[in-house]
Amino acid sequence: MNLTLKIWRQKNADDKGKMVDYAISNISPDMSFLEMLDVLNEQLINKGKEPVAFDHDCREGICGTCSLYINGEAHGPDRDITTCQLHMRKFNDGDTIYIEPFRAKAFPVIKDLIVDRSAFDRIQHAGGFISVNTSGNTVDADTIPINKHDADKSFDAATCIGCGACVASCKNSSAMLFVAAKVSQFALLPQGKVEAADRVLNMVKQMDLEGFGNCTNTGACEVECPKGISLENIARLNREYLKASFKG
Ligand code: SF4
Ligand code: FES
Repeated sequence: MNLTLKIWRQKNADDKGKMVDYAISNISPDMSFLEMLDVLNEQLINKGKEPVAFDHDCREGICGTCSLYINGEAHGPDRDITTCQLHMRKFNDGDTIYIEPFRAKAFPVIKDLIVDRSAFDRIQHAGGFISVNTSGNTVDADTIPINKHDADKSFDAATCIGCGACVASCKNSSAMLFVAAKVSQFALLPQGKVEAADRVLNMVKQMDLEGFGNCTNTGACEVECPKGISLENIARLNREYLKASFKG
């Protein structure tokens, strides 16, 4: 495949940045999108040019770092996959492909296609955990019976990999789907109920402090989420928040 790539290049957070054109040829349809970028970078390095900086780690849909906006969609044109799971067969020979970083005020660009998503870490630190003393008194996982429906819903919410596609796809740059997943995975389990009120209040407070926008129920986040996190988690987050506010 021969392709034209239009890639966002930005030296650092202060640089204005711009789209730069690259022609690339002999790309196999079986290559992953990141492998195609590896080929481009090899060519740039061989020509003594600066390679394109992009984030990646596991390359198997687990870590959530490979966050690219491809042809106007977070993680590209395929559904329920991350950028590292996207293959070049999704494109046609001769295509022009636009590659940009995830854009949001709370995700400032570090370099080229890499953004700073530490805002998500700070939201997690604010309450995305349970306090369980496991030193010397661990119990079997089935000691506390849990309704299968709740266990399944909790597991579904826990599959969120913190990639930020929900934020990048939202016209308000809202982080509600991410926070809803992180709150829901605990709210549905008995172990998570102990700190439920503090958790939801603190996480939502941190989310607002980080500068994410409000949810206006557009649903783009659910469509672009690589893990299929459902909007019903946002409804649960709102219920949990209301309950905690009355309690407080
Ligand atoms: S909810 Fe989906 S899109 Fe948002 S961070 Fe989690 S996995 Fe990524
Ligand atoms: S590199 Fe880890 S999810 Fe893509």
